[in-house]
Amino acid sequence: MLDVTEPFNLILFGAMGDLAHRKLLPALFNLHKDGRLNPDGRIWAITRSTRKEDEYMGQVKRWLLHYGAQMNDDEWISFSERIHWVGIDLDKSVGYGKLAKKLAQYDQNCIYYCAVHSKLYPMMCEQLFAHNLITEKSSIVLEKPIGNDLETGMAINHRVSEFFSEKQIYRIDHYLGKETVQNLLALRFANSIFEHQWNQRYIDHIQITIAETVGVEQRAGFYDGTGAMRDMLQNHLLQLLCMTAMEPPATMAPEAVRDEKVKVLQALKPIEGSDISEYVVRGQYESGMTDNKGVPRYRDEPGVDSDSSTDTFVALKAEIDNWRWAGVPFYLRTGKRLAERACEIVVQFKEVPHSIFEMQRKKTMANKLTFRLQPDEGVRLQMFEKRVGPQMQVQPMALSLQDGEEKGKRVPEAYERLLADAINLNPTLFLREDELMTAWQWVDPIIQNWVQSGQRPDGYSAGSWGPAAATLLLARDGRLWEENSQ
Ligand code: BG6
Repeated sequence: MLDVTEPFNLILFGAMGDLAHRKLLPALFNLHKDGRLNPDGRIWAITRSTRKEDEYMGQVKRWLLHYGAQMNDDEWISFSERIHWVGIDLDKSVGYGKLAKKLAQYDQNCIYYCAVHSKLYPMMCEQLFAHNLITEKSSIVLEKPIGNDLETGMAINHRVSEFFSEKQIYRIDHYLGKETVQNLLALRFANSIFEHQWNQRYIDHIQITIAETVGVEQRAGFYDGTGAMRDMLQNHLLQLLCMTAMEPPATMAPEAVRDEKVKVLQALKPIEGSDISEYVVRGQYESGMTDNKGVPRYRDEPGVDSDSSTDTFVALKAEIDNWRWAGVPFYLRTGKRLAERACEIVVQFKEVPHSIFEMQRKKTMANKLTFRLQPDEGVRLQMFEKRVGPQMQVQPMALSLQDGEEKGKRVPEAYERLLADAINLNPTLFLREDELMTAWQWVDPIIQNWVQSGQRPDGYSAGSWGPAAATLLLARDGRLWEENSQ
């Protein structure tokens, strides 16, 4: 992550929203506090016109403190001086005129950050254009999910691209900004020992899990009808799969990296027709316990339709039809109200072909490389060693691949890196249009099938690891999810 050295105007649409207060404003505050932002950089917070500027600033301070910002008065004052509030009702043209007048004073890069529902993107672009707010110095950051399926995704992209060139569009997926994902690239492409093993000859399978303990929270308006497939799998999980499976790019140049990711998505074997019920599990949480508290079922959450069929869990088996990965399943899963908050990529190597040790008769003896994205980020390699003592006994041991000096350093939040990259106009970690469309193309038949079949998602107790069918998905292949394989 490079410092932002150029002056800038960051225009934050959706500045009252969940994303702004949970992630974007804390990330901007950290960048500011660490001295990484050009002093001549402003944040324009756009909210509905019915709010008032001083009310909004008070709210920002409370949010920052709530999400753990360590700040003294000077830090708050200097950060708050960067923030300028503008009331705009996104679908009306009045407020945009005010914004245009204010921005006219600055001949600087303008980054429009759209932290609002993607159906509003076309209308916002039209208004920005009508008020001469789009110039060569403008770029636009689009939050996911963009659209609801391939058709709406294409329509929104098409409309946005009538106003902004592809070079000016930054489609964000914050999982790509996570420190361990960067480390995955470093470990894969800076060490020849891994690259030689990184294929179907040595790898048995790969598991990628994003488990959350939170439920739908205050976001029912967005989440109900969206669900885990569109909210998490179509983007975050498929991006992690791409980073794990892609070929070494020729350079770290944005197009070189993105070309390799697209090739992975294009090689994903379609899951269609009768394969869907065999390869994909869809769940919805029932009541249960998470974090030692009783919690209601999804359909009783505030704002959720009491008859909702929205998926709060999805697990599937993906296969990549190319030389490197033929025959290696990638098991992906994500869910809300699961047993733990955890995000991991587990690369399970094949067992030794013949063991001369006793242990293998009872347990598997296979190396495993685990990239832990959260919590407690890190990379561990499971190896086997001799237990100290007179007998020849072999035991597993975990080798942490994190340097002692690196431990304990503050790990920048994903949004810190990505906001700095977007302001610096570095698109490497953002999605290109073809990437997004290929991802939609792959998940679309699954979503359509769910809609047409009218089948409800399987129930699972809050605080569990999801529906029983998810366990069966691996059991059928003679495998176990990571939490059951210790
Ligand atoms: C967002 C999803 O993209 O990612 C949320 O919309 C989810 O539903 C969040 O909770 C998880 O992000 P993180 O970084 O907290 O794992």
